[in-house]
Amino acid sequence: MKVSKKFETSAIRTQSETTQFSEHSVPLYLTSGFVFDDSEEMRASFAEEKQRDLYSRYSNPNVNEFVDKVCAMEGAEAGFAFASGMAAVFSTFATLLNAGDHVLSCSSVFGATHGLFTKYFPKWNIECSYFNINEVDAIEGLIQPNTKFIYAETPTNPGVDILDLEFLSAICKKHNILLVVDNCFATPYLQNPIKLGADLVIHSATKLMDGQGRVLGGITVGSKELIREIYLFSRLTGPSLSPFNAWVLSKSLETLALRVEKHCENAIKIATFLEEHPKVTWVKYPFLKSHPKYDIAKKQMRLGGNIVAFEVEGGLKGGKSFFDSVKMCSLSANLGDTRTIVTHPASTTHAKVEPEVKKAAGITDGMVRISVGLEHVDDIIQDLEQALGK
Ligand SMILES: Cc1ncc(COP(=O)(O)O)c(C=O)c1O
Repeated sequence: MKVSKKFETSAIRTQSETTQFSEHSVPLYLTSGFVFDDSEEMRASFAEEKQRDLYSRYSNPNVNEFVDKVCAMEGAEAGFAFASGMAAVFSTFATLLNAGDHVLSCSSVFGATHGLFTKYFPKWNIECSYFNINEVDAIEGLIQPNTKFIYAETPTNPGVDILDLEFLSAICKKHNILLVVDNCFATPYLQNPIKLGADLVIHSATKLMDGQGRVLGGITVGSKELIREIYLFSRLTGPSLSPFNAWVLSKSLETLALRVEKHCENAIKIATFLEEHPKVTWVKYPFLKSHPKYDIAKKQMRLGGNIVAFEVEGGLKGGKSFFDSVKMCSLSANLGDTRTIVTHPASTTHAKVEPEVKKAAGITDGMVRISVGLEHVDDIIQDLEQALGK
């Protein structure tokens, strides 16, 4: 179906074809396989002479709808959806990389991605090195003859640092390598890396895309050629998104713009409150003027996102006391939920990360990451205030 180019409209009107029941809301296609009229149809379908669903490890109407929607939102030609964000990260990397290749990644990456780089890639003879997020002028010098792509998160998890995507893309084009971006913190509503020159964009749909902490999911979008390779790898290895989760996620995307607007409105108020609090050493939020990359954030993001990082006075002890004192906010490792979540990266997601890597990623002992939810902002502030007061 042809849809308008406006974000909110394609989020709602990108929809699977209506069935004979003329339903308004898309039904769930809980089926592992699909049937064929005769041997010729089956042969032609498997030979890809005919475009249709064959088996839900390859594609499914609910999954297709979710993929089409994210492609429309990101301005991408094609996509493939996965069972989780990490399945998207791993399958994308595994498709692109051969033994002997090198990945150049920003130093501040999600803990599990760091785990892939350090624990599993070396055994397949794939090398990974990091560039310091604050020393971007050194990036070009770190590109090796075997570098396949630059990998970037922006804003980063959990440091909430910002990388200039147009700048990175220019470097990649000059050296004829790919730019792969994890756009999970920004969502397609706030930032579209492909429009800024990225080749592939990865999302953990588990986060703001679902937005209600219910299902896991992931997606990679990009050019038809690259996605075709990712599809071929994935249809053999089986990391595909389930139709049920795709249905939930596609429904959630209908309200993404509205939800993200409100998340951001709450987040800037909380960041401002924390910046003025005497027990807070520093605050990082992309749309605070004090953010070191405020100008870049303003240039490439519509709003600042829902993640705020800050440091509580008193190091580990101060951080622990804050955590034990919050009453309404949830202590959880997830983010992008309607519920405000506080996390302590040093003792949880990044506990197994080496101290020097933690330092390069901007993670200190007293650092707290808040995923600002959709509760009334006064109640969130009241909870943080009472927890900081102890
Ligand atoms: C930036 C980022 N990328 C990838 C992931 C992995 O996503 P998932 O938990 O859906 O596997 C996460 C999860 O927190 C994340 O924050």
